[in-house]
Amino acid sequence: MEMIIVEDYEQLSQRASDLIVEQVRMNPESVLGLATGGTPLGIYRELIKANREGEIDFSDVSTLNLDEYIGLAPSHPQSYRQFMKRELFDAINISEARTHIPDGRAENLEEECRRYEALIEAIGPPDLQLLGIGENGHIGFNEPGSDKEGETHIVELTESTRSANARFFASEEEVPSHAITMGIRSILKSQRILLLASGEKKAGAIKRLLQGGEDVNFPASALWSHPHVTLVMDKAAYGMKG
Ligand code: F6R
Repeated sequence: MEMIIVEDYEQLSQRASDLIVEQVRMNPESVLGLATGGTPLGIYRELIKANREGEIDFSDVSTLNLDEYIGLAPSHPQSYRQFMKRELFDAINISEARTHIPDGRAENLEEECRRYEALIEAIGPPDLQLLGIGENGHIGFNEPGSDKEGETHIVELTESTRSANARFFASEEEVPSHAITMGIRSILKSQRILLLASGEKKAGAIKRLLQGGEDVNFPASALWSHPHVTLVMDKAAYGMKG
């Protein structure tokens, strides 16, 4: 695992965005695996800027998002479809048809999981997958205890994840109880993984990850079995004080 330690969130966003720009310049038809949550927001802002300044062209890029809540209307502001539209897609030159997110309102959710995994195989796997890390070590919505061989599937969110995500909703009760997520095995199919961590809240998870060794109760540790992971973190996430 390659490690890049930067000063702060701003530098993390810049550095990760630069790596994505490089990837798309190298292969304009790149498939990018994308994440939601707070961590990628700065990266998306940098990518929008780079797109406006002509440094990156998304017209031949395809995207595959990691996960989606179950049960939220696609128009709900906290659905990941809306999140991605608002924070990235609507502001760059990508056609909606090339952006893929699991459908958390599909009539047959099991079938939707199979469709999404087949899509990963058909257009992917991602050349570059962006990943955040949960305080409990989750990746995507693969919570502690998740099967390393798991592909796209339905999960029940843990209390810790629901309360961490409550900040985006009016109350914790509004946070959906279930989601569709790419499994650990689906994530590990990517050519390269960019794992991002910012802020002291993530210091415990990063410390545990860097202890090494795979542990089913700490899903991010599965990344040790991937040949090309780059961990970009700021000093606070690395446990260094100011
Ligand atoms: C988001 C996702 C989650 C987040 C993780 C960290 O699509 O799959 O695993 O990456 O919960 O979230 P933030 O960035 O908000 O700390």
